[in-house]
Amino acid sequence: MDDLRERFGVEHAFLLSTGRAGMTLLLGALRRLAGSGESRVGTVRDEVVLPTYTCYSVAASVVKAGLRVRLVDIDPSTLDYDVDRLHDTDLSRTLAIVATNLYGLPGDLPALSRFASARGIFLVDDAAQAMGARVGGRASGTWGDAGLFSFDKGKNVSAIDGGVLVTHSERLAEALRHDVGQLHRPGTGESLGGVLKALGYATLLRPSVYWIPNRIPQLGLGRTVFTTEYPIEQPIPALTALAITMMRRLDAFTRTRQANAAAMLGELSAVPAIRTVRPLAGSTPVYLRLPVLAANAVMRDTLLAALNDAGIGASGSYPRSLADVPDLRPSLANPDAPSEGGREVASCLVTLPTHGLLTASDRRRALDTIARVTAGTTASPSRSTARPPTKSPVCAE
Ligand SMILES: Cc1ncc(COP(=O)(O)O)c(C=O)c1O
Repeated sequence: MDDLRERFGVEHAFLLSTGRAGMTLLLGALRRLAGSGESRVGTVRDEVVLPTYTCYSVAASVVKAGLRVRLVDIDPSTLDYDVDRLHDTDLSRTLAIVATNLYGLPGDLPALSRFASARGIFLVDDAAQAMGARVGGRASGTWGDAGLFSFDKGKNVSAIDGGVLVTHSERLAEALRHDVGQLHRPGTGESLGGVLKALGYATLLRPSVYWIPNRIPQLGLGRTVFTTEYPIEQPIPALTALAITMMRRLDAFTRTRQANAAAMLGELSAVPAIRTVRPLAGSTPVYLRLPVLAANAVMRDTLLAALNDAGIGASGSYPRSLADVPDLRPSLANPDAPSEGGREVASCLVTLPTHGLLTASDRRRALDTIARVTAGTTASPSRSTARPPTKSPVCAE
């Protein structure tokens, strides 16, 4: 735990069974603080602002905490909040804004921090996908009132399960200490099960066995479902120990991911039918995956099929904008929110692997496959003048 606090330069850290569990607990604690006069007194604060495109688990955490989701559209060129949309949003019932830093590319955390604190709203810096990333020298996850890390499958440090909440706030830490103390502690049987799962997962990460998860749907790897059915518990100690040990290699994992991303970005930026995502100036992304946007939805699906045939674990990531997830709709505060950005990304996104088992020949195959599938496609004009006009094919099918 000291390792963790020192690593991220935070006062308080709390370990949970999963990131989702942490987020749900955190939002409950923030709500109590808001109610007790930490911020705007006397207003009902039962909404949490989320981007129209992000991991469904974030929305599930909000719903499980008994709150509603207020959607704000994203800018596909950054995957971050569309600033104009954020300024137009009715925040009168907002408890918190969550920055989700997808694929390890930090959002504009300094601007979001200023925006939230000027309005008496909490900012949650969700770095589940961005452990190791930085903005202006400050670690992703440590901006705002509280941050979140995850040790789930596919994360920069993965021990199959586990979540960490961090905060500088004494009052919030006190509330969280109380809440975590009430939670179930896993017994020996649950611990053993967790360790076996972690070992099995480590085996499946090898590219030569990528086909196995696809043939065994029960494993649930790479699948995206919206569900609030998850326990909120203390972590399995053996998995926490594994995660903390692996965290000592975080910088090495990060350098590998950054180098793999840089090698592919160098060539992809010259492919007319592909748009790359622009990192925030002054940020150091981790590139947990490398996100790129295809020119249209048909090309995206063709690319995914061709890349996976070539043995590259490419993924379309979350299949829908949060605006279009049926089970979430009853919990949306603004179901008709503008969501073109989120929908565009849901239909055109391809994420490429960057992990340490990816070889130079895997990268070559990925790039050759992309060049072959997109050959002959010319860029069409940008959909929106708010985005950079250069090389921005329309993807809004
Ligand atoms: C941005 C984001 N936040 C929160 C979570 C939830 O973390 P966990 O899977 O550990 O519950 C995830 C999971 O992938 C995520 O991507």
